[in-house]
Amino acid sequence: MKKLFIDKNVKVIKGSRAKSLIISKNDSAYIQDDAILKVDRERWNDAQSYERKTWMELGLKSADDRNYEHFKRFDSFNSLKEYQKENKINKVIELGCGPFTNMRTLLSQLPNLKEIHLLDPLLNDYLKHPNCQYSTGQLDKFKTVLHAIPIEELETNEVFDLVVMINVLEHCYDITIIFEKILSIMTCGSVFVFSDVYYFENDVKKMVYEIYDAGHPIKLTFNYMNQFLSRFKKIFECELHGLYGQPWRHDKYFIGVK
Ligand SMILES: C[S@@+](CC[C@H](N)C(=O)[O-])C[C@H]1O[C@@H](n2cnc3c(N)ncnc32)[C@H](O)[C@@H]1O
Repeated sequence: MKKLFIDKNVKVIKGSRAKSLIISKNDSAYIQDDAILKVDRERWNDAQSYERKTWMELGLKSADDRNYEHFKRFDSFNSLKEYQKENKINKVIELGCGPFTNMRTLLSQLPNLKEIHLLDPLLNDYLKHPNCQYSTGQLDKFKTVLHAIPIEELETNEVFDLVVMINVLEHCYDITIIFEKILSIMTCGSVFVFSDVYYFENDVKKMVYEIYDAGHPIKLTFNYMNQFLSRFKKIFECELHGLYGQPWRHDKYFIGVK
């Protein structure tokens, strides 16, 4: 694998320059039990700078963040049809929704939908994006309730029938808190629509000396992710390995019921 250094301004540096940069700046100090599940605020702020730059400067013409790719990999969320024969999904939240949301690709599968909440720490920036899907205060015909905070800071007694979190965890700062928050906003029978990347335990240590990617501080492992997902009754699962020319990468697509 060639050395790669991506800074908080999304500048990509390769080869011998990347090698010397990685020696002076890498994420090895955050590894605990072969994973990176928590980083400090300074490291997370760099990830947020990367994300803000990606969408609010470099991506001003974008209108999608692989959301339809995810839609296909979830088999168009068809497994929710069977679930809704017995259960109603009225109130939903997307965590780490980005400017475009995955929720918009899900709407056609939610015939009983009444209330949409969207959460992202960069929401107030995204509202100014030319293609932001909820800048009118609505997503499709539904009024949106907006939470401009990280998941780790969500304090609410509300519970949701459906929680969506796709391509978010790698960008956050404390996965243990996030997993607790997710369980706290779901009731018995709520659905979790989830996708993210995991790595095998052996690979994390090697990776931090090969790649520094300011936008992706967290490295979830196979065991840690599956331990959390075992709290749900699985109704859909698909895995893809080595996507985007990244041999260590494993993408999980999962829908489960609490
Ligand atoms: C790669 S984007 C994906 C956005 C969206 N999930 C999608 O698939 O289109 C990752 C998002 O996670 C958000 N994020 C980063 N840290 C977060 C946190 N602690 N809590 C919630 N969202 C976070 C970022 O601001 C960014 O909008």
